[in-house]
Amino acid sequence: MKKVLDLISQEVMNAFESCGYDASYGKVGISNRPDLCEFQCNGAMAGAKKYKKAPVMIANDVVAKLQESPLFAEVAAVNPGFINIRISGDYLAGYLKEMQADENLSVEKTTEPKTIVIDYGGANVAKPLHVGHLRSAIIGESIKRIGRFVGHKVIGDVHLGDWGLQMGLIITEVKERQPDLVYFDDTYEGEYPAEAPFTISELEEIYPTASGKSKVDEEFRKAALDATAKLQSGVRGYRALWQHILNVSIADLKKNYGNLNVEFDLWKKESDAQPYIPEMVEKMKEEGYAYMDQGALIVDIAEDTDTKEVPPCIILKSDGAALYTTTDLATIIERRKLFDPDEIIYVVDKRQEMHFIQVFRCARKTGLVKEETGLKFLGFGTMNGKDGKPFKTREGGVMRLEHLIADINEEMFRKITENHEVDEAEARETAKLVGLSAIKYGDLSNQASKDYVFDLDKFTSFEGNTGPYILYTIVRIKSILNKYRANGGTVKKGHLLAPAGASEKELMLALTNFSSTVEQAYEELAPHKICAFIYELANDFNHFYHETKILAEENADRQRSYIELLDLTREVLETSIDLLGFSAPERM
Ligand code: ARG
Repeated sequence: MKKVLDLISQEVMNAFESCGYDASYGKVGISNRPDLCEFQCNGAMAGAKKYKKAPVMIANDVVAKLQESPLFAEVAAVNPGFINIRISGDYLAGYLKEMQADENLSVEKTTEPKTIVIDYGGANVAKPLHVGHLRSAIIGESIKRIGRFVGHKVIGDVHLGDWGLQMGLIITEVKERQPDLVYFDDTYEGEYPAEAPFTISELEEIYPTASGKSKVDEEFRKAALDATAKLQSGVRGYRALWQHILNVSIADLKKNYGNLNVEFDLWKKESDAQPYIPEMVEKMKEEGYAYMDQGALIVDIAEDTDTKEVPPCIILKSDGAALYTTTDLATIIERRKLFDPDEIIYVVDKRQEMHFIQVFRCARKTGLVKEETGLKFLGFGTMNGKDGKPFKTREGGVMRLEHLIADINEEMFRKITENHEVDEAEARETAKLVGLSAIKYGDLSNQASKDYVFDLDKFTSFEGNTGPYILYTIVRIKSILNKYRANGGTVKKGHLLAPAGASEKELMLALTNFSSTVEQAYEELAPHKICAFIYELANDFNHFYHETKILAEENADRQRSYIELLDLTREVLETSIDLLGFSAPERM
């Protein structure tokens, strides 16, 4: 569907043209004086010079032409030459009727669908999921949904970290604890046990222990580096142990991401890029891009215009081990082979920006990607505690995601049950839905690149710019609709009337902004635009609700129109929160 702003612009542009002025002067914008009008056109001022006329004369010409237009309730020329516009209520109702009938709620599907791989989540196996990975999961999931909604083919890949030093650290620690395990017997040729020699909780204790050791024990660190290289080169026992680590860890990750309502199409890992590495390295050497420098294989990627130093890309370390950069480059080759994407979007902590500058430049320089393939880095800021430092537990440790979610759900449960009797099991389920909205909205309502403060009290509040406030609004609408149904009414579509009052018109106008919001959110990879939109929409609804007797309205046509407006508002809000990755309960 065309956007209201474009339809209005077209009408005003036509008027400029038929008055003998250039149509381009007729572009209309949202009014910056909502007390005076809803839309405004400043073209008369811009055209004054060209036509050697006072701006207000031009404005008067155009305004006279527009008096008969069915689009407007009011068009006025105001000194020194503004054209102030109010949209016609009938026209607005007609537009919303079309929106009701449109299965995509006025958002147009792209005519050029792209294949987009989105790399998000990025958990590391065998390390507990912590709040640092939360942002990537939340933002990435939303971008994926928005991309699909506007018609692209979006493939979400969790891209697990499973190929770096952390694997060598774990293997070395397991070896120290249980040196007799068959995985460490070089002469063993049989099958390896199907059962892992550790549980997820053991694994989660093993990694931090090993990591701590490697910082003080040089010997241990060397052993871990050696184990990493051996794993990568394919030593059987190490590969078998690594497979156990993966299995145990992925089962746990799936559960955790599931709780966040985050779904990946692909559970690929850094190690899946390994088969592509040897050929990639050979080619880079052959074509003269990669050369040996102090034992390591590197590619220069600095450019003359760099204002800060961009270090060379290290492709292989002196022991032949692959690095984070290496697997990221080889993953680009794999993705090209499997999906031939038009674009790859990486949703990763902004502190990794330099890494991605290096990877992107190296990929382009060495021809790993087609020229037209887009490589985008969406770097997000840090989630801080109230002290302004990266979020920690009360004891100062790294907060595990499960614990954070449990804390929020507990707080939501307390709030939901505070003032009234409720069924405990239902309240727990509701608390989960509302808790997720608190976490996700708290994150997504900030521009992704900015740091933000995780504030439990604020995020879980039912008032203000929060997820629970949005859900509360949706539930309020649902409850009115249910009462209407209980009284024998049927919620239909297609009977909207011109607004009867100012707050109703405002709500109707707010709804028309849905399509431009979603489009912008996609183009700028900016879910926060959707948050800002639904916050305003929820406010407009609540304002209307407080001023209007809906269920007590006596005129049946008017009441039916109110009900349809509520239902459309609900649909737009629910679609929007689905794009953000959460949903609303039936009651709360
Ligand atoms: N595993 C990485 C980390 O925890 C994030 C992976 C991001 N994606 C990528 N293709 N490098 O820092």
